[in-house]
Amino acid sequence: DRGIVVAIDGPSGSGKSTVSRRLARELGLAYLDTGAMYRAATWWSGRSGVDLDDVEAVAEAVRAMPLTMVTDPDEPRVVCDGVDITDAIREAELTAVVSKVATNLEVRAELKRLQREIIEHSAGRAPGTAREPGELRGIVAEGRDITTVVAPDADVRILLVADERERLARRAKERHGTADADTIEATRDEVVRRDADDSTVSTFLTAADGVVTVDSSSFGVEETFAAVLAVVTEAQ
Ligand code: C5P
Repeated sequence: DRGIVVAIDGPSGSGKSTVSRRLARELGLAYLDTGAMYRAATWWSGRSGVDLDDVEAVAEAVRAMPLTMVTDPDEPRVVCDGVDITDAIREAELTAVVSKVATNLEVRAELKRLQREIIEHSAGRAPGTAREPGELRGIVAEGRDITTVVAPDADVRILLVADERERLARRAKERHGTADADTIEATRDEVVRRDADDSTVSTFLTAADGVVTVDSSSFGVEETFAAVLAVVTEAQ
């Protein structure tokens, strides 16, 4: 008696976090933001005084990282070494360097292991054990390599994409309240450069075999959510 695993990948600004979290809420599933784990690894490396270009030292630090991911979609939180870093890991300075840590292959191996553990814990169940009332069964996990590397055997695998222009505009609006030439330029590093760096280690710009692509370029939040929900419902 296993819970459902929904894997959602996509580039920055594709809307995957909003959609994934809402999907988890509406279906009563756990929610795992794997990007937050790479952000936490970056935060922890900094706090440990490690040079982010020192591949070995970063890997060693991350293997000792005391990380807790709270996967409740109503209030997902990231706690590291007893500190709630949910908000701190969204800061611009950290976002600018997260790809350095995320392209460290030893870090990826360690976080993949942790992610699989969390997914297995949420979806799996020892034979004969009953589901507790209100217990979330199954999980929505989102990131860059969930459909391909972390959970290639997920029940539902979706790649959420959108045109670069649209993704830039959305992120500019989110960060600066408005999307004009200046704010879009200020957002370019966070979206375009970061995706280029990240795509050297993960394939999230094109769908792998068996992965359903949802293009949200001409969709608002509601339409995007409906399209993703339809894919999940159809797979049931
Ligand atoms: O999605 P978010 O912007 O929070 O992701 C932060 C960073 O984490 C990405 O820029 C990428 O470097 C890394 N990441 C990754 N693999 C994932 C999820 C995120 O490498 N599955």
